[in-house]
Amino acid sequence: MDFELKSLSPTQAAALSVDALLVLVPDAKPAKPSGDALSDLVASATRQGDLEVGLGKQLACYRPAGVKAARVVLVRSGDGAAVSVRKAVSAGMAALKQPGVKKIGLVLSLLDAGNDSVRAAVSACAEATYVYTTTKPSAKARALQQVTVGVSDAAAVRDGFDVGRAQVTGVEFAKEWANRPANHATPTMLAEAARKLGRKPGIKTEVLGPKQVEALGMGSFLAVAKGSAEPLRFIVMHYSGAAKSSAPVVLVGKGITFDTGGISIKPAPEMDEMKFDMGGAASVLGTFAALAELKPAINVVGLIPSCENMPDGLAVKPGDVVTSMSGQTIEILNTDAEGRLILCDALTYASRFKPRSVVDIATLTGACVIALGGVRSGLFSTRDDLAQALQQAGETAQDPCWRLPLDDEYGEGLKSNFADMGNVAGRAGGAITAAKFLQKFTADLPWAHLDIAGTAWKSGAAKGSTGRPVPLLLQYLIDQAAVLAAAGQAAPAGKAHRAARPAKA
Ligand code: BES
Ligand code: MN
Ligand code: ZN
Repeated sequence: MDFELKSLSPTQAAALSVDALLVLVPDAKPAKPSGDALSDLVASATRQGDLEVGLGKQLACYRPAGVKAARVVLVRSGDGAAVSVRKAVSAGMAALKQPGVKKIGLVLSLLDAGNDSVRAAVSACAEATYVYTTTKPSAKARALQQVTVGVSDAAAVRDGFDVGRAQVTGVEFAKEWANRPANHATPTMLAEAARKLGRKPGIKTEVLGPKQVEALGMGSFLAVAKGSAEPLRFIVMHYSGAAKSSAPVVLVGKGITFDTGGISIKPAPEMDEMKFDMGGAASVLGTFAALAELKPAINVVGLIPSCENMPDGLAVKPGDVVTSMSGQTIEILNTDAEGRLILCDALTYASRFKPRSVVDIATLTGACVIALGGVRSGLFSTRDDLAQALQQAGETAQDPCWRLPLDDEYGEGLKSNFADMGNVAGRAGGAITAAKFLQKFTADLPWAHLDIAGTAWKSGAAKGSTGRPVPLLLQYLIDQAAVLAAAGQAAPAGKAHRAARPAKA
């Protein structure tokens, strides 16, 4: 989908040559009707009470006088804050999901839209019209092709618009790969997608196979992959937006392309949803796709351990003890707690980059779904400043998370008589004990963990990937680029990277 940003007065919006206009109308009374067709329409609809006050309330009009677009939907945007704009656009777009609507004008000119509101409008518009078609070509592809975002002053909100566009690219990339069934998204195919991203300027991709992973001593990762006929892949990506000497942020994404549970097999109902168990990996790939577009001045490394978790004659068995890359031994008491087993070796690998921070992203525990549901991702960190930065990024990007504790007492259940640790503790506090397991592999790294089991996809009639937490990750990286810039760590000479500035500013 093509987005463009334009300064549009109400008169110019009325003259737009599009199939439909979605006009956001703030709840507050307009100063005075300005005499143009669109403002008059809004004023009289408001006066008559046909357009009620209240976020999301709408009025659909057909061929109103003086407006070029045949369809005009007026929608209330409440107080005009970014959260409200997102809700208003979602509500309004539902009324414009028609095959004949290919070009629209998304008119924000009547509000005081800042960077965050423009970003929210762009992402909500894409969200409302996304359609998965790869293995269902009969599904009607997205009708909407072009969106002109009209604001009163385009230059003032260009940054927010650019971030919004890059975010849409990233979220849709993540959705595509997470939505694909496991036979259309094997570790090898995921690595291919990463390689293809590696052809974009600023991105490099390296893919390791079983032999190289064995040579690295990743005994824990190898153990999970053993039961599958599909060979594992370890994907290493680099985005270079800053000077070589600038320490990177490392993103580690869980890439289980299908989780049967292994020998500790899962029950049949809803097992198909375990194709989404590479949602963390998809979010890392999506974030890289967004970085390639936005080009913030920061270095980022992406690490994706990817394999299937299958039951088999060769599969790892409950009670087996393996040696991780860190040298620590692990008693695999439950083969369904496989995410932590592939992540721990990737976290050990991460330390070689001397990272600024390491953030792993994983559909790790059912317990996190119980704790936080589908609204907020679980956030764990050993550093308050990192936790705060991620939490804030989530709020800014409307992709929120919530911090959970890491007291040492939570780790006690991981003790084993046969290895340095077991891979599971009891049922209580399962999201936290999983994080405690990962913490054993982070040594002195500034580390955070996002458990996205509840937020990466939706079940039921709306079953599908959400593309989360790409918005949070992208915002965190933009914010960190701004911190670097403020500290005087400039972009490499000769490269014209965009000035890093948080969308908020
Ligand atoms: N991929 C699952 C976590 C999951 C479960 C995500 C349900 C989304 C919905 C993970 O590999 C898993 O199976 N975790 C186990 C851990 C347990 C065996 C300690 C779980 O949560 O049940
Ligand atoms: Mn599992
Ligand atoms: Zn899993």
